Amino acid sequence: MRSVIDVLDLSPEELDELITCAKDIISDPKKYAHKCDGKKLATLFFEPSTRTRLSFEAAMYELGGNVLTMADAQSSSAAKGESVADTVKTVSCYADIIAMRHPKEGAPLVASMNSSVPIINAGDGGHNHPTQTLADLLTISMEKGRFDNITIGFCGDLKFGRTVHSLINALSRYQGVKFVLISPEELKLPDYIRINAIEKNNFEYIQTTDLESVMPELDILYMTRVQRERFFNEEDYLRLKDRYILTPEKLENAKSDLTVMHPLPRVNEISVAVDNDPRACYFKQVLNGKYMRMALILKLLGVE
Ligand code: NCD
Repeated sequence: MRSVIDVLDLSPEELDELITCAKDIISDPKKYAHKCDGKKLATLFFEPSTRTRLSFEAAMYELGGNVLTMADAQSSSAAKGESVADTVKTVSCYADIIAMRHPKEGAPLVASMNSSVPIINAGDGGHNHPTQTLADLLTISMEKGRFDNITIGFCGDLKFGRTVHSLINALSRYQGVKFVLISPEELKLPDYIRINAIEKNNFEYIQTTDLESVMPELDILYMTRVQRERFFNEEDYLRLKDRYILTPEKLENAKSDLTVMHPLPRVNEISVAVDNDPRACYFKQVLNGKYMRMALILKLLGVE
């Protein structure tokens, strides 16, 4: 029984296998339509979600399986004070695999220690979001054809943005990646990630507050939302929320084959006028997320 709590729980070889599997699903979905007949996925979401929960559920349906949904904490016994451990001991009596999102960092890890079925971390607080990283890696693989020797800019809330943390960790196992970290002073990448993923592996990186000056060197620009729900006060959020807004004008100095990514939801950080630019890949990421979650479910359920 195997859970995925951190993207580093999967080796680079396993990530390659998942990408190959997702590409095969895209080219021949019928072949996979009954792979999970009779199996059940439970989605336990203690925080808001549109894409992650629905793509997990769509993934399971497209594999022929069924879904048990808990879409918000208020509708479950968590509202009565039940612990994550007890909730998971219960749900693992009903489901073959569980995807869990929780506002507390480490909750899916605790769940995995108390579950008899695989747990997938679907986002834990400001910590990690490994399955968004799977969607991101498939997108990068399709757009760039490589993970080595890329210059990737992360822009916005690098402090609380869990998708940023997981993608940086995943990329830290390749060669020649240059990290460009663009954020306000208050929302810089946490030291533990900068040191362990970037500095210890001797990657080149820069930290800056200015998006426009670094734009011309980027192969990938990963925009993020300022994570309002993780702020201690609304004033700080209001001051920082619109610091970076990507517009067609700002893209004029960018490479013609730049890949613009965003895990979504978008608030203001990318103007809708950018959506029609062929470099905008954020809605491709949405679709890729479903295929990678299909591949991950197959792997964790041990389906050939
Ligand atoms: C992200 C998340 O939940 O961390 N959304 C997602 O799953 N695609 C990003 C965000 O909420 O800003």
